[in-house]
Amino acid sequence: MQLTIETERLILRPLRVEDVDDLLQYQSHPEIVRYIPWPERTREQVVEALAKTIADSKDSLSESGDFIVLAWELKSTGKVIGQSNSGLESTRDQLVDIGWVTHQDFQRQGYAFEATRALMDYIFKNFPVHRIIANIDTRNPESAKLAEKLGMRREAEFKDSEFFKGDWCSMWLYAILKSEFNSKPSR
Ligand SMILES: CC(C)(COP(=O)(O)OP(=O)(O)OC[C@H]1O[C@@H](n2cnc3c(N)ncnc32)[C@H](O)[C@@H]1OP(=O)(O)O)[C@@H](O)C(=O)NCCC(=O)NCCS
Repeated sequence: MQLTIETERLILRPLRVEDVDDLLQYQSHPEIVRYIPWPERTREQVVEALAKTIADSKDSLSESGDFIVLAWELKSTGKVIGQSNSGLESTRDQLVDIGWVTHQDFQRQGYAFEATRALMDYIFKNFPVHRIIANIDTRNPESAKLAEKLGMRREAEFKDSEFFKGDWCSMWLYAILKSEFNSKPSR
């Protein structure tokens, strides 16, 4: 059965070929891709990346390297306004890396929080996961703020740890353990 998570305003579900036009709107936007490892995608690149995601992504996190990508479909209109990426880094350490993107016209309305909190809840309840982490560029305070609202702890700052899009970047490591996660909604 297809992985679907319902929140107050969103349906989180696997990407579909017909999402291409919604994805193009934000995956081509320079501000959206500034701190994520995608180029400003053309339609062709969105089509290609989408096909690869549909082919390779899973609906469970069982083996190291498994990853789940979920579209955030707005219940009121059916439009895809963002997405979550989560990947199992290690079965031995039960470690998942998580990421988030909100379409530029839908930011600052709490959608990333709503989607990611529900996904974290789903992951902790359904897979043997001990710890969820997020790697966040130190120039991306909106993303760090979201991690903190989700209850994640800033555990480290790695100075100039990545050479990314032409610059040396420092990265924050955020993390939360299953035992620390509170599935009750809070803002
Ligand atoms: C980082 C990012 C995902 C945040 O998205 P977002 O949807 O705006 O994030 P949130 O869900 O936290 O909402 C932000 C604001 O909406 C406010 N808000 C408005 N209505 C709300 C509601 N109904 N519920 C909750 N929050 C609400 C929140 O209070 C919050 O404001 P605050 O930060 O002052 O507390 C977004 O900026 C983004 O896509 N950036 C580009 C991609 C990127 O860099 N991704 C991360 C890579 S690590």
